[in-house]
Formats: sequence, structure tokens, C-alpha cells
Amino acid sequence: MTDSPFKIDTYAVIGNPVEHSLSPTIHHAFAKQTQQSLQYIKVLSPLDAFSQTVANFRARGGKGFNITVPFKTNAAELVDEISNAAKLSGAVNTIQIRTDGSLFGDNTDGTGLVTDLIQHKNIQLKGANILIIGAGGAVKGVLPAILREQPNMLVISNRTTSKAEILAQQFAALGNITACEFEQLTQYSFNLIINGTSSSLQNAKLPIPKNIIHKDICCYDMVYAKELTSFLKWCQQHGAEKIYDGMGMLVEQAASTFQLWRGIKPETQHILKQL
Ligand code: ATR
Repeated sequence: MTDSPFKIDTYAVIGNPVEHSLSPTIHHAFAKQTQQSLQYIKVLSPLDAFSQTVANFRARGGKGFNITVPFKTNAAELVDEISNAAKLSGAVNTIQIRTDGSLFGDNTDGTGLVTDLIQHKNIQLKGANILIIGAGGAVKGVLPAILREQPNMLVISNRTTSKAEILAQQFAALGNITACEFEQLTQYSFNLIINGTSSSLQNAKLPIPKNIIHKDICCYDMVYAKELTSFLKWCQQHGAEKIYDGMGMLVEQAASTFQLWRGIKPETQHILKQL
């Protein structure tokens, strides 16, 4: 059975799970602010039927969609044209469905993170010593944007070190990026640590040395939660004072996506305060 066509411009987030997503709230707030008439829905895709879910949404006249866990890599394989950012990161989080039905894929996660760090958290990335923990899809998606800001060094460390080594090699042409085992991290002095693992979603503790934390370090968890994430709690316990979760990144990536779809960049401070 085919679902009936949409009556107004319709966008979606497609994922599994998708119920927790704040994207509809954010995009509806942007639509209200910019006086655009649209709806944004959540679409749960079966794990083995992502391309069919996309085909159904397109057949109903959908204008574009976001992709969340675990389909960002599948989405990169599905598009007809891909932006540089998405190509470099091998992951697509935003798709625009053009009038001829073709799919344009972009990745706004990296810009979202960098905009949040620089504009909202006042963290200088140029010349900074940055540690990023994790080597999965989420980290891969943001590496090009971080390296574009020309940090002094970007160290990537992961529970499975070989994965960090592969990413460091893959992105070596974009800047000074090295892989390092958790136990060896004490040899560096970092200005910023970004947790790009899913450890906080499992409330798990990362086995990283506590002496890399100091009073002036900035600690950022790409995950967001109502309460402090387990990673940020751990950083705070060991003396970090500047701790941030990924809510700002979420809102900023949504703003870039909205601009691609609607041609207008919404203001983000208001919705950030609301959330
Ligand atoms: P995502 O798309 O969210 O990045 P992913 O590609 O499955 O998801 O990657 C998950 C990342 O979190 C990986 O870097 C994973 O480490 P491994 O490569 O060793 O699996 C990391 N991760 C998940 N749970 C973790 C935990 N409890 N402790 C440390 N790292 C963890």
C-alpha cells in the first residue's frame, strides 16, 4: 500500500531508533521564526530497508530528510550528488530531494560542531591541541571541519586503536592528525577534549588517564542529555570547569540543514535557550 502524498512541504528524520529525536522541535521552531510553511516528521526505518524507506518518502513528495543512526554511511551510497564535506567524511546526514527527484547529500555535523565551539562556547580551535575520542561514524563526520580550523594538533584515540590509526592516515592530508592509545595520552597537553564515542549513551566510563584533565581544559561531549553525561561528570570530578554537551552542535547542524533546504539561515540562540 502506498501512503497518500503530503499536503505541505514535508521533511523528515529517518533513523532507527528515531523516537528520541529533537529535530522536529528544532525545525518547527526555525519554520515559525522564518515564517515558512512546512512540516517535519520522524520516520522509523527497518534496519534492513533504508533505501525502501527513502523511496517511499520520495514517492509521497518529501522535500528532504536528515539521516541519523545507523544510516549515515548508507545514505552516502544512495545519493546522486554529494557535497565535499560529505564526501570527505564518507557520511551524509542531510539530503535534499530536488525537483527532478535526484538526491543531493551533505554533511552538516562538522560545521554544526565547529560553529557551536567557536561561536557559542568561545573556544579557539586555530593553534589548539585537540583530543578527539572515538573512531566511528560520528567522529569521521566531523574530522574535516575540525582540521579546516587549523589546530596545532589533533590527536585521535579510540578503544580499538587500529580504527584511530586508519582515520589518522585517511585524513593526514588535511592537517596534523595522529592516533594515540588511551594510556599514552598523558604525553600531551590538551586545550580541548571531544568525546565522539557512544559511551555516554551507555553510561559507560572511558578508560582514559585522569591527569589529562586540568582546570582550563574544555570538555565537549557530542552526545546530549537532560543531565550531565557520564563523560562530562567524570571530567568535572577531575577538575574541568568548562564542560559542554552536544545540544549546540545539534541545533547548529539543523540550522545549516534548514538553510540548504529553505535558502534562509535561522537564528539559533533563541531555540538553544529554549531547549
Ligand atoms: P557512531 O556512528 O555513533 O560513531 P559507531 O560507528 O558504532 O557509532 O562508533 C562508536 C564509537 O564509540 C567507536 O569509536 C567505539 O569504539 P570501538 O571502535 O572500540 O568500538 C566507541 N565506543 C562505544 N562504546 C564505548 C565504550 N563503552 N568505551 C569506549 N568506546 C566506546
